[in-house]
Amino acid sequence: MADFIVPSTDAGCRLQGPIHSKRHVRVICIGAGASGLLLAYKLQRYFSNFSLTVYEKNPEVSGTWWENRYPGCACDVPSHNYTWSFEPKLDWSAVYASSREIFQYFNDFARKYALHKYVKVQRQVIGAYWNHQKGGYNVTIKDLQSSQEISDHCDVLINASGVLNNWRWPAIPDLDKYKGTLLHTANWDDNVNLAGRHVGLIGNGSSGIQVLPTIQPKVDKVTTFIREPTWVSPVQGLEQHVFSDQERFEFATKPGVLLEYRRNVERSLNGLFGIFLKGTTTNNETEAYMKSQMQEKLHNPYLEEHLIPSWHVGCRRLTPGVGYLEALGKENVEVVYGEITRITERGCVCDNGNEYPVDILICATGFDTSFKPRFPIVAPNGKNLQDVWKEEAQSYLGVAAAEFPNYLIFLGPNCPIGNGPVLSAIECQADYMLKLIDRFQTHNISQFSPKKEAIADFIAHKDQFMQNTVWNDPCRSWYKGRPDGPVTALWPGSTLHYIEAMMEVRMDDWEVKYNGNRFAWLGNGRSQTELDPTADWAFYIREKDDDEPLSRGRKLQIINRSGTMSRNVGTNFIGKSDAEEDQSIGPRI
Ligand SMILES: Cc1cc2nc3c(=O)[nH]c(=O)nc-3n(C[C@H](O)[C@H](O)[C@H](O)COP(=O)(O)OP(=O)(O)OC[C@H]3O[C@@H](n4cnc5c(N)ncnc54)[C@H](O)[C@@H]3O)c2cc1C
Ligand SMILES: NC(=O)c1ccc[n+]([C@@H]2O[C@H](COP(=O)([O-])OP(=O)(O)OC[C@H]3O[C@@H](n4cnc5c(N)ncnc54)[C@H](OP(=O)(O)O)[C@@H]3O)[C@@H](O)[C@H]2O)c1
Repeated sequence: MADFIVPSTDAGCRLQGPIHSKRHVRVICIGAGASGLLLAYKLQRYFSNFSLTVYEKNPEVSGTWWENRYPGCACDVPSHNYTWSFEPKLDWSAVYASSREIFQYFNDFARKYALHKYVKVQRQVIGAYWNHQKGGYNVTIKDLQSSQEISDHCDVLINASGVLNNWRWPAIPDLDKYKGTLLHTANWDDNVNLAGRHVGLIGNGSSGIQVLPTIQPKVDKVTTFIREPTWVSPVQGLEQHVFSDQERFEFATKPGVLLEYRRNVERSLNGLFGIFLKGTTTNNETEAYMKSQMQEKLHNPYLEEHLIPSWHVGCRRLTPGVGYLEALGKENVEVVYGEITRITERGCVCDNGNEYPVDILICATGFDTSFKPRFPIVAPNGKNLQDVWKEEAQSYLGVAAAEFPNYLIFLGPNCPIGNGPVLSAIECQADYMLKLIDRFQTHNISQFSPKKEAIADFIAHKDQFMQNTVWNDPCRSWYKGRPDGPVTALWPGSTLHYIEAMMEVRMDDWEVKYNGNRFAWLGNGRSQTELDPTADWAFYIREKDDDEPLSRGRKLQIINRSGTMSRNVGTNFIGKSDAEEDQSIGPRI
């Protein structure tokens, strides 16, 4: 069917066409990681009369998985569940695939669906300013090859620049005085050879936990600097395992085998949420189990005292520490517990007064996760999001900010990024954004932004919910700005909870401005159906009522295939199914 296209944003033009005529929409997306690529895929698949440019600062797509190439970097959830829900990969090499293989998955995804054509690489967005004449944003981009600045304009600006993309050096005095080789895990130099060298490793977050056991057998010595205990979990769901040719052949050729495998893993991951709720049986039993595991593997009173936390399991991100605890006890590994007070030409000076010289210093010190944009984003009222989110980033359901119209964010503040695979959250955010873009295109909308009061209510609810979660414990974690601070990175609920919350756009929470008459979209009185000679003009005449259910509950039962499972119960690391109580009640708020 030929689309009736609204030639300009002028409301009057809509009168010439049928109901819901599509205006042209220009979208700019910042970043071509998983989020930006998915947006491009869905926009291309479902929309017409749009133009999209994805500006990407790196020379390649795939974001996290192009940048993080440190030794040991891998998926921390089974790889078959780190794919788009609709795009399985039949031949993952192992249960926990390497960063390189994940990079390949996203690059292949982009190639298969011809998404590279939307992406302009080595172009860094350095500012976005509301355009008072045309609406939308004037976007300034720096061409990283020529250093020239380029200007562009969009109706809708989508920030997919990644919550774990702004890597940072540790704030340790005199870091620049170090004369050895200084590396950051997220900015790895593949030319550095660690073999036979004395390596310093700062940090025991997820990156540090993966680096240590990978480099320990190759280097002469590792001195690892740790300043906070952390829970190190066994693998979540499945043991590491290299898939045999036979297994991969079966995944590729036997109908339903891979789908059932993926669904089983996902069910199990979705059943783990009880771990994050304080005082639940799941949390208590998991903690007791992990403590005994850590004691067994560390087998050293000093390390046990300094590495096993007093705060609850899950307060910091749980990383499956394959071989980490064992590595800490190896002869060529020295554990230095405490604060590094300064860096010298030779290495680190710690609060015990000792200097620890090293040939190579690896900073596994994480990212700036403040959610404050790295460049100015200026709203119609002149406010800059960098200032508005300086103290605390407060989003609307993780996807938008008050007073910043036509601006949407992937994995913004308070998304389910701490429990289970993140890709399912990215998928439901993309769907949510595209529902808004669809409305923008087919109604007479010029601006849409979440209401301030809706965000205030969401934040109040979130803060209350968080009190009963382990994330609220006094650990130092990137999920919050300070140990006692509000939890800014996580969603107040499970991933399944987020998916259900995002299924429909609550327009009651959105401030909408129109181009003139809000009903101009009614057009010339003709329906889209009449415009389509191949459509059935009597589509609603039937023999029986086969409508979609009208209530949310009945609709959901169809979507979630209610009645098809014998009985779902949550699981924990012990493999015990006791989460029924935790799942049904949750924290009382
Ligand atoms: C080391 C590491 C391991 C991880 N492991 C897992 C895991 O096992 N499971 C899991 O679920 N999640 C994991 N994550 C989280 C992971 O970041 C997400 O799963 C997902 O890849 C995020 O995709 P994204 O596109 O939102 O962000 P990113 O992958 O960070 O992509 C953002 C992109 O935006 C670009 N960009 C940023 N600023 C600009 C700018 N100003 N102009 C132009 N381009 C810009 C960046 O270059 C980048 O390509 C991991 C994260 C890290 C850092
Ligand atoms: N697939 C995976 O397994 C995987 C791998 C890597 C990353 N990730 C994702 O990326 C997130 C970030 O992980 P990350 O390990 O890169 O960062 P992180 O979890 O923030 O850990 C940073 C580490 O550096 C230490 N550190 C920071 N500044 C320091 C200083 N001045 N002195 C001494 N130590 C300092 C921190 O110590 P303190 O804790 O004491 O502050 C912490 O141990 C993870 O939570 C996860 O979501 C996933």
